[in-house]
Amino acid sequence: MSEACILGIETSCDETAAAVVRSGERLLSNVVSSQIAVHQPYGGVVPELASREHLRAIVPVVRRALEEACQSYQSVDAIAVTQGPGLAGALLVGISYAKALAFALKKPLITVNHLEGHIHAVLLEERQKGNYKIDFPLLALVVSGGHTHLFLAEEQKGGWTYRNIGRTRDDAAGEAYDKVAKLLGLGYPGGPVIDALARHGDPHAVPFGPAQIKHGNRGVPKEKQTPHDFSFSGIKTAVLRYVELEKMRESIAARQKALAGVAKPKADDVLPLCDRKTLNLVASFQRAVVDDLVTKTLEAARERDARTLFVTGGVAANSELRERFELEAAKEGMPVYFPSRKLSTDNAAMIAAAAFPKFLAGDFAAPEFSAEASLVLR
Ligand code: KG4
Ligand code: ZN
Repeated sequence: MSEACILGIETSCDETAAAVVRSGERLLSNVVSSQIAVHQPYGGVVPELASREHLRAIVPVVRRALEEACQSYQSVDAIAVTQGPGLAGALLVGISYAKALAFALKKPLITVNHLEGHIHAVLLEERQKGNYKIDFPLLALVVSGGHTHLFLAEEQKGGWTYRNIGRTRDDAAGEAYDKVAKLLGLGYPGGPVIDALARHGDPHAVPFGPAQIKHGNRGVPKEKQTPHDFSFSGIKTAVLRYVELEKMRESIAARQKALAGVAKPKADDVLPLCDRKTLNLVASFQRAVVDDLVTKTLEAARERDARTLFVTGGVAANSELRERFELEAAKEGMPVYFPSRKLSTDNAAMIAAAAFPKFLAGDFAAPEFSAEASLVLR
């Protein structure tokens, strides 16, 4: 059977998601129940709360995904679930539910690596648009709250293979956005609000440069040097130092107090609470992060003779990142593809899409598999 409706389930972090995708190329439904409001008061994801919220949401979310796709438990051909990487307790909720469903319905169960899911979100949408011509090798930048990875992908019979040629040595790029937003009292998650505020500031006002953002290979033996690695903890510290130096603590505290009374603060609520210095700082931070991601990815693409670029994961929703990648990749004559904003952040459509080649290859999960918090993609 070369057609298949796959039900995908994703619970690796703070979104409970289910979706139905036909043959890896047609999105039939995509339901995401976000826990942002639950974690917002803590300025980050609290693992125990995430598991509890997944337990609450999983059954209605799956039911809605089936309904919206005009499918039933019986009509889908297979069930796909995220095995890792992610929060172990959160992953286990999706896995236990998927196992029970597959067993009761006598349907095949397919495990998917979350990072492969992010990559296949791009492929799903390109195919949906009618673009079947993707040249390999393909370089994928997966950039989110938990990951900043460069994967060189090849298409082989029975699926894709991946080589991880770059990774962050400390914080992920999205994590830097979230930490800087928390430090500046801008709310959680940091990415969307900084993205919106950065447009109002001067990106050259604070001279963050390679010193804050570049990892050092100095002293590392040549065979162990990793030229495509990233590092985002330095820029976070540089922002903190700037806040201290410029005595911004008081204005941050005032903003935090004002936002405490707003249920789900949006960028429009935050903007009037930001002075010029804050907007310039935010714009300069974003410019430094985007510069680094674009420069290192294009360097890696040139060096490895990549024919196509994919940029995916939560941070791929960033407007400046998209603009800069489009501009710079065009100069090199390299096609660059992103998922739509909806499929950039965590979702289950990407899991159902990534499962399709495995379905065709008969690559089904053994009943005893479990969550793998640090699952590697190869
Ligand atoms: O892919 P995702 O939903 O979850 C993980 O797998 O981590 O990514 C969430 C991350 C958060 O750190 C969030 O701040 C960031 O993606 N993010 C953004 C934007 N939208 C979400 N970062 C920059 N600009 C955005 N527009
Ligand atoms: Zn993700």
